[in-house]
Amino acid sequence: MRIPMIAGNWKMNTTVSEATELINEIGPGLEEVEGIEKVICPPFVSLCAAGDLVQESTIKLGAQNVFYEEKGAYTGEVSAPMLAELVEYVIIGHSERRQYFHETNEIVNKKVKAAKKAGLKPILCVGETLKEREAGQTKEVVTGQVKESLAGVEKLNGLVIAYEPVWAIGTGKAATGKQANETIGLIRSAISQLYGKDIAQKTRILYGGSVTPANVVEFMKEPEIDGALVGGASLKAIDFLSICTQTASLGK
Ligand code: PGA
Repeated sequence: MRIPMIAGNWKMNTTVSEATELINEIGPGLEEVEGIEKVICPPFVSLCAAGDLVQESTIKLGAQNVFYEEKGAYTGEVSAPMLAELVEYVIIGHSERRQYFHETNEIVNKKVKAAKKAGLKPILCVGETLKEREAGQTKEVVTGQVKESLAGVEKLNGLVIAYEPVWAIGTGKAATGKQANETIGLIRSAISQLYGKDIAQKTRILYGGSVTPANVVEFMKEPEIDGALVGGASLKAIDFLSICTQTASLGK
């Protein structure tokens, strides 16, 4: 019912020529992987070149951020209508944006609405810090982020959620499959409360945080986990291919 998704978040890595090289490296192998959705999210400046390269392929593109105004005097920002000509997905509310660029749930909510208005599918990121987990606040934090980020959003229409515990991102300390499954179950319940059971069952919820070829199966075997948002390992062609191939071979 839910097609697994593997999305590569390249973050602030790769120049245009490096991005081109990486896509050329992963392209042929990825083309052979069937039954899952394969998404790459290069930096803004590489999206045009990436679009040309994946045009004839099954690889989809995402952006890593978006501004919530449509156009105007917002120097340096990129709007949803601009992205809509280039990508299908957009990552919104990544913990690095929340941490370094002070994005609140309110800002994330505006971005989600702007993205949806332009026809983009948000990959909405939520996740607790280590301090919050240790204080037993995981459920409260994560469901609060979901509810506030989706306030006033009537329909999800293909919106994807990524559960990324902040303590697991880029640290090499991934959550366990069980931990991720449990929290993703809580997120699905929150979606069910907001949009009904049917929509909750249809909505894909990914895990993110130190996913590698060595642990992807542990996550993908869990019933609530519908895919992965992959950072570091998405920059190594061989690793990203392996993560996609292993996910597809589970035949979820
Ligand atoms: P990581 O990043 O795989 O390098 O931990 C994941 C993410 O931030 O999306």
